[in-house]
Amino acid sequence: MKSLESHPGYKEAVKQNTEFFRALRCPFSYAWWLVFRAPKLRRNRTRIVELLDLPFPRWQKMVLETLSWFEVWMHALEPIKNQIIQELESLRKARKEPIAIASIGCGGMELERQIIYQLVRKRFNFPLIFIGIDYAPASFEVANAKLKNLESRGLLQIKTISHLGIEELNALKAQAASHRFTVVLLKADAFDLKELPSNSLDLIYHTRLRHHLTAAEGREMDKLTAHLAQKLVELDDLFTIRGTIITSIFAWRFPAVLNGAIFSYLKDCCKKELTSQQKLGCNLGLHGRVFSCYLRVCAKAG
Ligand SMILES: C[S@@+](CC[C@H](N)C(=O)[O-])C[C@H]1O[C@@H](n2cnc3c(N)ncnc32)[C@H](O)[C@@H]1O
Repeated sequence: MKSLESHPGYKEAVKQNTEFFRALRCPFSYAWWLVFRAPKLRRNRTRIVELLDLPFPRWQKMVLETLSWFEVWMHALEPIKNQIIQELESLRKARKEPIAIASIGCGGMELERQIIYQLVRKRFNFPLIFIGIDYAPASFEVANAKLKNLESRGLLQIKTISHLGIEELNALKAQAASHRFTVVLLKADAFDLKELPSNSLDLIYHTRLRHHLTAAEGREMDKLTAHLAQKLVELDDLFTIRGTIITSIFAWRFPAVLNGAIFSYLKDCCKKELTSQQKLGCNLGLHGRVFSCYLRVCAKAG
């Protein structure tokens, strides 16, 4: 953290994170931080920078691994997993060439691992390409380690690329035709995908990404996803005081995880904000009792 202190782009982030980790020294100072400092951060929430967004690959890896663990044990991906499987079932009926779907900010690809297991159980037998886009190198380390087992059993092939244009996409589709599942790890900024022609992908989705974007980036992301595919499926958490307190108790022994969980909660929308920003052509569902999240499905007209 010290190495970034003098960097103008990270000065405020270092201050926020240092204060948070100092507060974690004892439960009383953390309770003080939660009552007096957290509401201040929430009021200026577009300026919050969590540890995962700082250039520390070791911490990023740890946070992404633990996020996957949380998603497994809390069944935190169920709504989007079921929705994507439903979309794939209908795409399969309409398609002749391999289906290509993409996850923006894919992290450790826990969602794709769960989808693939379920599709294997359902005997889904149609070539399918999962493109995971993330700019954090740690995400591919975590995803590779997680999917290696499936690869060694011959259930999927993994490819790593750093650029995706229409030629690369067509080549991937041609190579995927003889495989059941292909996972493509694309190390890039999602906004680089702008150059792909409209509707290049069959489905686009993101989970727990929106709170990493500024309001302007969020609007850009909505334009980008609407350009890339007919349908977007999006999942993110909702801010609740109850969720913040329960997370603080359960993640108390894991400081880096607690940082990611609490800072991202503070950046998340609350239910009232979310329902007031209803988007045209989108269906919104609310899920989870203890840890609330939303699932939004947006389809383009025509
Ligand atoms: C909280 S993680 C969520 C990971 C995964 N989707 C999940 O739910 O487990 C957010 C991820 O988005 C990535 N990310 C944020 N902005 C991005 C961008 N513009 N392009 C690519 N990846 C991005 C981060 O590197 C991080 O891995």
